[in-house]
Amino acid sequence: MAGMATQEKTTHFGFRDVPLADKQKLVGQVFTSVARSYDLMNDLMSFGVHRLWKRHFVAVSGVRKGDRVLDLAGGTGDIAALLKPVVGDEGEVVVGDINAAMLGVGRDRLTDRGLVAGLRWAQMNAEALPFPDNSFDAITIAFGLRNVTDKDKALADMQRILKPGGRLLVLEFSKVRSPLLSKLYDMHSFQILPRLGRLFANDADSYRYLAESIRKHPDQETLKGMMIHAGFGHVEVRNLTDGIVAIHRGYKL
Ligand SMILES: C[S@@+](CC[C@H](N)C(=O)[O-])C[C@H]1O[C@@H](n2cnc3c(N)ncnc32)[C@H](O)[C@@H]1O
Repeated sequence: MAGMATQEKTTHFGFRDVPLADKQKLVGQVFTSVARSYDLMNDLMSFGVHRLWKRHFVAVSGVRKGDRVLDLAGGTGDIAALLKPVVGDEGEVVVGDINAAMLGVGRDRLTDRGLVAGLRWAQMNAEALPFPDNSFDAITIAFGLRNVTDKDKALADMQRILKPGGRLLVLEFSKVRSPLLSKLYDMHSFQILPRLGRLFANDADSYRYLAESIRKHPDQETLKGMMIHAGFGHVEVRNLTDGIVAIHRGYKL
C-alpha cells in the first residue's frame, strides 16, 4: 500500500541487523569460509584453552557407556572425538551440523585418527531435528547455539528428541564476570582476532563476526531462563575461566 513501509522481521548477525530469513545463509558463509582453518584458528585464538574447556565439558557431561548422544553443531568433531571413548562400542555418537564443509573436515579428521565405528555424520538444522521423539540419552552443543537463528525453537526441538531423563549440555561463550578480564577480553576479541583471521584464514570478517556474535549471545541467566522455558528441568550453570564460557545443563523430566 502506498506510503506504508513493509515491516520485515530482523535479527542480529554479529552487530548488524539482517532480515531474519538471511541469517542462516550468512552464518553458512562464515563456516564454509573458515572450515579448513577452523581447528588451527581455535588453537591460536584461545591459546589452546578451548581444548581444556571441551575436555572438561565432556568430563562433567554425565554421558555414560552405551549412551546414544547427538553432538549438535558438531562441526569438525572435537566433542564427538571426546565422547566416543566414553560411550564405547555399545554406544553411538551422531554428529549433526548444518554445514557440509565443517562436517567434511570433521569426518576426514576423525577417520584419519581411526574413529569410524559408532560415529555417524549428518547434515541437519538445529531448528528442525530429523529424529523421532525420545531418541537420545544426551545432546551436546558446543559453541553452536550462538549461531542458530531461532534458539527457542532449537531448544524446544532438542527437548523433544531427548529421552525422558535425558540431558542437554550447552558449552558456549558467555558473560565475563570480572571487569578487568572483560577489558582484556574485549581487546583480544576486537583487535587481535580479526588480525589472526586475516593472517591465518585470509578472512578477517568471519572472525569479526565471531567476536560480535559472542557479545550478542544471551548471558548465563538469560540462557538458563530460555532452557526452562523450553521445558528443561533442574537447569544448572557452571562458569569456566570467569565466565568467558559457561556450561548449561538441563534435563528432560
Ligand atoms: C563454532 S562451530 C562449533 C563446532 C564444534 N562444536 C566445536 O566446538 O568445535 C559452530 C558450528 O555450528 C554450526 N551451525 C550453525 N548454525 C547451525 C544450525 N542452525 N544447525 C546446526 N548447526 C549449525 C556451524 O555450521 C558450525 O559448524
